[in-house]
Amino acid sequence: MCGIVAYIGKKNAKDLLIDGLRSLEYRGYDSSGIAVLHNSKIELVKSAGKIARLEEKILSLKAPALVTNSVSSNFNSHVAEKINLALETSTCGIGHTRWATHGIANDTNAHPHQDTEANIALVHNGIIKNYLSLKQELEAEGIQFRTETDTEVITHLFAKQRAGKADLDALRAVMNRLEGSYAVVILVKDQNKLLVAKNQSPLVIGIGEEENYVASDSSTVLQYTNKVLKLKDQQLAEITETKIILEDLYGNEAKIEVHHLVQNTSIQEKGPYKHFLVKEIHEQPAVTSLMLDQCLANATKPITGFEQLDVDFKQINRIVFVACGSAYHAALIGKYLIELWARVPVDVEVASEYASKQVIVGANDLVVGISQSGETADTLAAINNAKNAGAQIMAITNKSDSAIYDLTSPNNYVTPAGIEVSVASTKAFVSQVLALYFLTIKIAEDRTEIDLTEIKQGLRSLPLIIDQVIERAEDYKKQFIKYSNYRDFLFLSRGINYPIALEGALKLKELSYIHATGYPSGEMKHGPIAILDQSVPVLTIAIDGKSKFEHSLYEKTLSNAEEARARKSPSLVIACDDNQDVTGLFDEVIRIPNIDQFLSPIIATIPLQFLAYYIAEELGKDVDQPRNLAKSVTVE
Ligand code: F6R
Repeated sequence: MCGIVAYIGKKNAKDLLIDGLRSLEYRGYDSSGIAVLHNSKIELVKSAGKIARLEEKILSLKAPALVTNSVSSNFNSHVAEKINLALETSTCGIGHTRWATHGIANDTNAHPHQDTEANIALVHNGIIKNYLSLKQELEAEGIQFRTETDTEVITHLFAKQRAGKADLDALRAVMNRLEGSYAVVILVKDQNKLLVAKNQSPLVIGIGEEENYVASDSSTVLQYTNKVLKLKDQQLAEITETKIILEDLYGNEAKIEVHHLVQNTSIQEKGPYKHFLVKEIHEQPAVTSLMLDQCLANATKPITGFEQLDVDFKQINRIVFVACGSAYHAALIGKYLIELWARVPVDVEVASEYASKQVIVGANDLVVGISQSGETADTLAAINNAKNAGAQIMAITNKSDSAIYDLTSPNNYVTPAGIEVSVASTKAFVSQVLALYFLTIKIAEDRTEIDLTEIKQGLRSLPLIIDQVIERAEDYKKQFIKYSNYRDFLFLSRGINYPIALEGALKLKELSYIHATGYPSGEMKHGPIAILDQSVPVLTIAIDGKSKFEHSLYEKTLSNAEEARARKSPSLVIACDDNQDVTGLFDEVIRIPNIDQFLSPIIATIPLQFLAYYIAEELGKDVDQPRNLAKSVTVE
């Protein structure tokens, strides 16, 4: 995880680094720091907390009076003046925003890190698996470690290797000692250049006119240049204002392949909304509408949007979805749909587990990774594992400029959800679920004679219904905030809405820090029921259906909810407007417009997004950046 950024050129480095860090904050926001080169010395500022705290600390260097006590810097006035001068004038520097893996989030563990002599400063994204043995080795040589990070071993190893070697050779020697993932940028005291190295963590160089940028992702550099060099694993480079020397681990010069990317200068704004989360909830009608226009413009015609795929669905014997978190919940819905309508067996695997399994797959198995960011390390590793074992691979992702997209091309479907800023997924999750309806239809159309016109027509009505649900937000708020002070929640449902129970619980957990768990309704009596009493609300998703099968699922779900009520649990239900059998059975009936059970997961999700949001707001939590999380999880 973590985001790294660096600049060398003629502009003020500090301003560019801070801008870059802000755009990378989705990768972690436990602490941040920058280091700049000035008069052949490295000056450094870092701070626990979000980038705003780092900015306050930087401000405190020149205007101590403007700064709150909580951020008051520890610098004496002479040192402050020196650092401030460096920050105001330097044109070369590195920056880092951290998601803590080794060591708590404090000022000391914040990057950049330095060697004992302060000759270099270094930022790192990734995990050095063998850092303990390297640390022991370095400590035995008398080096004293100052932090609890795995990163610090890289700084000392590099400082040691520099003796008598050219910098790229020294860096190569360090890379040969490291096991694990890393994207590293190094600043060297008396040299106007940046050194970078990459293995399994993303790193790009943005090539400008007499200036170069480095960042964890291309969108960070795209505001300055559209010429981007994506480093490959085990590559290293030396970068000056005008030159890039790119090499591989064997000392060979590597080819510089410049991608001309589409420049995206759109700055994400909250508009009239208090939080990005609410903004993104409100974008769901537009996102689903766009997807339907792209793929299902006409319900009587075959689905479109999958033409580029190099997969013959008639030959596929089994599909395996690999994903994490909300994307995993979307995959569970995909399993339900594909098995129901396309009649292909589907497994759904937690990506982090699948990544290190001896998987049994063959050429007729299709392993599909689902990932909003397209950078999730676990999902990437799971897809790679399947690929190496001989499976066909595919991805559903929200980012075409991503590692998962590159790995699976041309077998990918890109959801047009747009940038999702809020850490908790809302519109991206809904777009993943809709993409899985589309994929199901595609497979069913290729393999079966089943007529899905009615389903397609139903899907076309989704944007309007989502809009109607969103219009009820104020009513939901009144219903939900009464439940803000409970410490545990249970979410139940069956069949196609069981994954929505999981998703509702995850949203509540991550936004409000209330413990919440989702269960299949029928499973509750096999253990979880023991925790129920008046202190544990149970929320049931109970959507009736037209067919006998759907209705029986609904009836069983209600009967499980009754079992919870009998244990005195406060009871909430998500039910359709016309469904009167729930009245009187539950303490709180959360109404959604009438919808067929098979189309209900997306609609039932929306009130649960509001539930988590309103409770988090009521409890004063950080809605868009909940503690301990990051938007893109790039470590395994
Ligand atoms: C939950 C959430 C996470 C992500 C998970 C996978 O709101 O956002 O659970 O769904 O980290 O991320 P992607 O989809 O980027 O692979």
